[in-house]
Amino acid sequence: MSNKSVNVVIVGGGSTWSPGILKALTKHLDIFKINELKLYDIDEKRQEKIGEFGKILFREEAPEVKFSYTTDPEVAFENVDFVLCQMRTGGYPMREKDEKIPLSQDLIGQETCGPGGFAYGLRSIRDMIELVSIVRRKSPEAWIINYTNPAAIVAVALNKVFPDDHKILNICDQPVNLLRSFGRLIQVDYNRFEPKYFGLNHFGWFTHVYDKITGEDYLPLIKKTTLEKGFLPADAEQRDQSWLDTYGMVETMVRDFPDYLPNTYLQYYLYPDYKITKLDPNYTRANEVMDGREKRVFEECDRIIKNNSAKDSHIVHNDAHGDMIVECAASILNNTRDTFIIMTPNNGIVSNLPDDLMIEVPALLGINGVEPFAVGKIGTFYKGLIESQYAYEKLTVEAYLEGSYEKALQALTLNRLVVDAKRARKVLDSLIEANSEYWPELK
Ligand code: NAD
Ligand code: G6P
Ligand code: MN
Repeated sequence: MSNKSVNVVIVGGGSTWSPGILKALTKHLDIFKINELKLYDIDEKRQEKIGEFGKILFREEAPEVKFSYTTDPEVAFENVDFVLCQMRTGGYPMREKDEKIPLSQDLIGQETCGPGGFAYGLRSIRDMIELVSIVRRKSPEAWIINYTNPAAIVAVALNKVFPDDHKILNICDQPVNLLRSFGRLIQVDYNRFEPKYFGLNHFGWFTHVYDKITGEDYLPLIKKTTLEKGFLPADAEQRDQSWLDTYGMVETMVRDFPDYLPNTYLQYYLYPDYKITKLDPNYTRANEVMDGREKRVFEECDRIIKNNSAKDSHIVHNDAHGDMIVECAASILNNTRDTFIIMTPNNGIVSNLPDDLMIEVPALLGINGVEPFAVGKIGTFYKGLIESQYAYEKLTVEAYLEGSYEKALQALTLNRLVVDAKRARKVLDSLIEANSEYWPELK
C-alpha cells in the first residue's frame, strides 16, 4: 500500500455525480490517502453548492484533507496527481436538444447513441482536448481518469490527439452496474465475479462471468434466470422508470441473441423501431434527470448546508459510479493491478479488429498503466456490428478535427440509428444549427 498522500481534482465539480465521488473518496481513504482535494468547474454557481456540501462532508469525515473548490484552472491543476473528470459541455439543456431534435425527425434521441451522441461527441471533444492540454501544462505526470460522455468518442479523439499520453484513462460504470445486477439476480456477491467482456463503450458483451475462487462460469445461470424472472438494475429501488425499462430489455436481447450478455445500450441499435415507440419526443431522459436527479442533488445540498452536517445525507444515487473511479485511482497509486473493464487501444487484443480502435475490455490497472487481457477472434455478428460502429466513431472524430461536413455526413449515414443519407443530412443540418456555440464550423 502506498503511503503517499495524493492531490486530487474533480473536474465538473458541479456534476450531479460529484457528491457520489466525494463520498466514495471518504470511504476509500485507507487505500487512497488524500492530501489536497479540489473541485473544478466552469460554472461557479452550480459548483458552489456541491463545494459547500464537500466542505461539510470532509470536515466531518476527514478533516486532514485540504478541501476547496475553484473555477480557476491555474489554481485547480497546480501540482496534481489525479484528475477525476466528468464534465458535460452545454449541460442538460443541450442534452435535451440532442434527444429531441432526432426524435422530431423519427430518429432515436439518446445521450450517447445515434445523432444525439454524435452531437454531444463534437461538444465534448473540444472541451476534453482543452482540459488535457491545461492539465499537461500544469501537472505533466497527473493521471486523468475520465467519465465524460460519449466516452467512446472522447476516447477515440484523445487517443488520436495525444497518442503518446498513457496516463489518460477513459472509463464507464455500466459494465460494473451490470455485474452488480447479475449478482443481485443470482444472489451471488459481485465481488466474486471475474468477467470476460469485449466491445466498444456502450457497445459490448459479457462472454463469461467466472467465479474468482471456484472458476465456475455463471453466464448460463444469469441468462436462464433473466429469461425466467426478467432483469433489473442492482439499485432498482433508486432508479427512474426509464432505466427500469432499459434494464428490462436485457431479457429480449438474451432471448434473441443468446450467446452472451449484452450491455444495455445495445438495445438502441438492435431494436431502433421498437425503442422509438417508447421514447416521448416531448419529455426525454434529460427532462426526467432535470426534474429528478438534478433537483434531488441540489435540494439535498441545500438541506445539508442548512443543517451544517452531512451525517444523515442520502445524496448518492449510484455507489458503483463513485466506487469505480476511486478504485481505479487506488489501483494505480498502490500498483495493486486490480481488474477493471476499461477502454484502451485495441492493438491486437481482439485480433480480428483494427489496432487503433478503442476497445473496452477487462484489464489490470497499475502504476505503469493498462495491461489488457487478450480476447482473440470474435464472431462475425459482433465483428460486423463493432466495425461499422467504430467507423462511425472514427469519422465523427475526423469530422471534428478536420472541420469536415462530408465526414460528419458519412458518420451519421453509417450509424445504425440513421442509415438513410437524406435523413442523415437533415438531422446533421439541424444539429449544426443547435450547436453553433460549441462545434467547429463544418465545411
Ligand atoms: P452535469 O451537467 O450535472 O455536470 C457536469 C458539470 O460539468 C457541470 O457542473 C458543468 O458546469 C461542468 N462543465 C461543463 N463544461 C466544463 C468544462 N469545460 N470544464 C469543467 N467543467 C465543465 O452532468 P452529469 O449528468 O452529472 O454528468 C457529468 C458527465 O459524466 C457527463 O458527461 C455524463 O455523461 C458523464 N457520466 C459518464 C458515465 C460513464 O459511464 N462514463 C457515468 C455517469 C456520468
Ligand atoms: C450509465 C452510463 C453512463 C450514463 C449514466 C447516466 O451509468 O454508463 O454513461 O451517463 O448511465 O445516465 P442518465 O441518463 O441517468 O444521466
Ligand atoms: Mn457509460
